[in-house]
Amino acid sequence: MITIKNAAAIRKMAQAGQLLATMLRDIVPLVKAGITTLELDSWIADQLRQNEMVSKTKGYMGYKHSSCISVNDELVHGVPRSSRVLTTGDLVTIDVCASWQGYCADMARNFFVGEVSEAARKIADVAQRSLDKGIEKARVGNRLGDISSAIQHEIEKNGFEVVRDFAGHGIGKQMHEDPEILNYGTAGKGPLLQPGMAFAIEPMLTDGHYDVYVDRDGWTVKTVNKRLCSHVEDTIVITHDEPLILTRLNSQTEHNLERMLP
Ligand code: MF3
Ligand code: CO
Repeated sequence: MITIKNAAAIRKMAQAGQLLATMLRDIVPLVKAGITTLELDSWIADQLRQNEMVSKTKGYMGYKHSSCISVNDELVHGVPRSSRVLTTGDLVTIDVCASWQGYCADMARNFFVGEVSEAARKIADVAQRSLDKGIEKARVGNRLGDISSAIQHEIEKNGFEVVRDFAGHGIGKQMHEDPEILNYGTAGKGPLLQPGMAFAIEPMLTDGHYDVYVDRDGWTVKTVNKRLCSHVEDTIVITHDEPLILTRLNSQTEHNLERMLP
């Protein structure tokens, strides 16, 4: 069942989203050659604590960290490690899901370590654009398939492939709620979008075949062809007007929130 969030719930999710967006802005200067993914995770854990947020990944099915940090051929769920030292040219995805006063936001961004290849820049750019295209369709009167299909179209138009094994999701008190938001599908199909629905939209794309597998650590998802991939994520709310993107910094968020709350 897709739950409809009331204004109070959405205000809390918006606070969680703005705190995550602030963190993933402030982490940029730290994502440099020489730092380990475990050090980045510790910084994130610290920030969550300082902002009275609770990690939703720590303790989830035995996962021990406050973030997932995936590098190059790692798509999602990269486990932070002291042995994973970032080097120039790495394409890094940092994914954090946390709650504030019991309500979640979920966000992921790509980061470049020093100078990266043209290929890395391109796949990151297409990932972000496909997310934007999906979000544009997150409007009352549209259907869930409109979001999925817009993401797929943008990815495939640019010569990349859509990962089938993972998807976005509804979000609220829980990190994962209904519905499942596939990154491929048919426009005009699926449930009608209604004000107060909250979604974590997260395109996942590969350079070459979309096959992925789970590493021996039991978590890290990698491309079979060992080539680059990308994943980005925002948490949004359907309103009467345009979608409210909770995980993008916006001095107008407070204003928009009051104007657009369902
Ligand atoms: N933030 C992730 C998501 O988008 C959750 C990862 S689950 C974990 O759904 F346990 F691996 F962290
Ligand atoms: Co998510």
